[in-house]
Amino acid sequence: MSETHLGQPTIDIFAATIAAAVGSWRLVGKGDKNAVDGAAVDAMRASLRAANFGGVVVIGEGEKDEAPMLFSGEIIGAGQPLEWDIAVDPIDGTALAAEGLPGAVSVMAACPRGGMMNAPEVHYMQKIVSGPAGRDLLDLDFTPEQNMRLLADALGKPVSMLNVAVIDKGRNRDLIASVQGFGANWVRFAEGDVAMAVAAAVGDVGVDLLLGIGGNPEGVVTACAVQALGGFMQGRLMPLSPDEMSRALASGNDIERKFELDDLASGERFIFVLTGLTDGLLTAGIKEVDNEMHLQSFVLDSDFGQPRLLEVRIPR
Ligand code: FBP
Repeated sequence: MSETHLGQPTIDIFAATIAAAVGSWRLVGKGDKNAVDGAAVDAMRASLRAANFGGVVVIGEGEKDEAPMLFSGEIIGAGQPLEWDIAVDPIDGTALAAEGLPGAVSVMAACPRGGMMNAPEVHYMQKIVSGPAGRDLLDLDFTPEQNMRLLADALGKPVSMLNVAVIDKGRNRDLIASVQGFGANWVRFAEGDVAMAVAAAVGDVGVDLLLGIGGNPEGVVTACAVQALGGFMQGRLMPLSPDEMSRALASGNDIERKFELDDLASGERFIFVLTGLTDGLLTAGIKEVDNEMHLQSFVLDSDFGQPRLLEVRIPR
């Protein structure tokens, strides 16, 4: 793995996800969500103290679950101009990490300052994500059946071969029934919709389409990756409780609005790094080999073209 091919701020973002993964590894599989997340947050924050770029954390972690967090508004860097909006998700799939199950990752994303949507009052977002074939074709307002039919036709495959990821939550029950009833393959997952959504935007790793209601901050993180990949995404804020709804409305959020990809993340450059803790669709998880830890990171930087899968070996 050659770090020297990564420019700034990608290299610092990459390093921060590696730090979070390594820093929380000893707690993976130990059953304590807050402890594993806290270790990842601390390690990511410590790593970012050495960052060589200026940014503001727009999407912090943990507000929904009252978990430890890198605060929204926190400044990254040592006095450099604040040129970047930063989104952090030190662990996406905290419950998976706590149980040692597949799909736990550490994620960071960045886009130029002012580019990230920020609606901290709303914890959930309805999402649709696909690869480039979905652009100018799919729509959050279409029925799931319409979207599945359109995408299957655009990809030149029967609906029975279409892999549609929907996070397995009660709120998505009708949607899951629609996917299965239409004859597509439901890609079932319990947590961690960032990796699943990015997999849909990548296109050839086992997911064609992501649908359903997941986290709002995770949606903005995802949007940076989808931008870098040239994929398709739309989202709508989804307050799920009366309390959340009142806070959303009081803060002036438009809960009817369909957010296009450019509304979720905009700018001239998009950076997204995902490092695996446990095995997933985009990366392998951490492996202990002799006296080393082996890690994989999925790195996107729109300035550098294609996604890269980087391998890191760290002495234990
Ligand atoms: P955390 O790791 O922060 O717990 O998020 C996991 C996750 O599954 C996200 O990937 C997803 O967007 C969100 O939670 C869904 O929220 P909830 O678990 O409350 O349904």
